[in-house]
Amino acid sequence: MFSNRVQAIVLAAGKSTRFNTGRTKLLEKICGQEMILYTTRVLEQLSVPITVVVGYQKDAIQQTISQRHHNTNSIKFVVQEEQCGTGHALMCTKLVWERDHILILNGDVPLVTTDIIHGLFETHTTKNADISFVIAHNADPACGSYGRVVKNDGSIKIVEARDFDGDANEHCCINAGIYLIRKQFLQECIDSVSMHATAKEFFITDLVKIASEKSKTIAMFSAPFDRVRGINTLQELWVAEQIKRAELIKYWMDRGVHFSVAQNVHLDIDVIIGSGTYIGCGAHILTGTAIGKNCKIHEFASLENSRLGDDCEILPHSIVKDSTIGSNSSIGPFAHVKENSLIGQNVTLGNFVEVKKSTIGDGTKAKHLAYLGDARIGANVNIGAGTITCNYSGSGKHQTVIHDNAFIGSNNTLIAPVTIEQNAYTAAGSVISENVPANALAIARARQVNKEGYANQLRDIKTPEAARHANSTLHSFMGALKSKPSETSEPT
Ligand code: UD1
Ligand code: CA
Repeated sequence: MFSNRVQAIVLAAGKSTRFNTGRTKLLEKICGQEMILYTTRVLEQLSVPITVVVGYQKDAIQQTISQRHHNTNSIKFVVQEEQCGTGHALMCTKLVWERDHILILNGDVPLVTTDIIHGLFETHTTKNADISFVIAHNADPACGSYGRVVKNDGSIKIVEARDFDGDANEHCCINAGIYLIRKQFLQECIDSVSMHATAKEFFITDLVKIASEKSKTIAMFSAPFDRVRGINTLQELWVAEQIKRAELIKYWMDRGVHFSVAQNVHLDIDVIIGSGTYIGCGAHILTGTAIGKNCKIHEFASLENSRLGDDCEILPHSIVKDSTIGSNSSIGPFAHVKENSLIGQNVTLGNFVEVKKSTIGDGTKAKHLAYLGDARIGANVNIGAGTITCNYSGSGKHQTVIHDNAFIGSNNTLIAPVTIEQNAYTAAGSVISENVPANALAIARARQVNKEGYANQLRDIKTPEAARHANSTLHSFMGALKSKPSETSEPT
């Protein structure tokens, strides 16, 4: 019924001057989602055809809507070349008015819900109104720059904040910027909307005054103020985000998610969190992230566009981006997993471990200070502290492959491309530049020499000449060592 008789128009062409950012406010994000998408998604849920009026930074807005909507067939765009006010924006859509009732929404009312639109439609049809609009009770003149509903001797009009000098207690309802107008009335009256002398703009709100003068039926639907807040400034954006985030946190709390300091967690709109999971102070759970059950996300961890299995632990100050972590794995503290890394189950990536564009098999451990980039690492591998994959040759990136059950000693430098086969060992401090066969031990480091008593001589060096002399003795000593057999022939 509703969807057959109504079409929607979203006003999104304005310059966002009060934001002072030089960008359209409609692409500012609230809990990870662009402001304009809140309105268009509510309308999409209502299954009505949508026309978005664009102008200022229109390409970016159009692109965002087109990319992020499931069904773009139901969305049209109309361009308002010059931004001459909300009334003018509506005038630009004349040619697309097809259905009996035209629903118009300001694009900057992101917290609106389908219930409010349904309520407006109910009121509009029950009262057989020509024009209906959403209002909210707010007597505080400092609540923002809203138009106030002014009723006098049976007449009704909306007076913009800058022109309002009446008693806000008496005129305690603000215009929410959401209208439902009978097409016939709109066609008759749109050309009667004239330019305001001071603002040099056409106001959509004048349609209410015109309807009142023509004794048309006007209806109002009252909504909670928080649901219809308009966003004109960065401060109002911040408030809207606080409201939205509190809502998301309450939603997940009801589903068994424990927040240690709920007020300073950053949670985006589309994240999913399993029950029994704990979210620590200052954690950032950003768009595209799904966390399994009974995980622990500790303080100041940041997860973005990533998937975590059940029972995972992300220790403080770790970042996981565009990656997947299998169940029961532990990441951090201060770890960084990124660029489509695929981490298996029961994996430990400890302090200061960075993993880039790599797969890591089940049960593998890299507990301390490692860089694993462009690596394919099997199951149950041990990566010793300080291991670095040298994946970049200066001109290209190369792969390091480590097969199951290999043991990489501490402080290894793995020069890619290189493969370490199953069950192989590499000795601590090795620079591995050649493939290591299965079950082999690779040692690639200088042999240790102990020069008996030499430390005492070093302590006696007092003058620069003595230091120079000691150095040259040491160098000739090292030169003599070179003629000895290669160290790799025997394990240390
Ligand atoms: C408007 C209403 C005000 C109401 C408030 C609710 C008018 C004149 N006033 O004021 O009564 O209380 O919303 O939030 O309508 N836009 C265009 N083209 C333009 C100008 C604006 O498309 O030329 C778009 C903007 O991008 C925005 C929407 O219309 O999404 C509303 O414009 P805005 O300037 O924010 O109106 P308000 O001053 O908030
Ligand atoms: Ca506004």
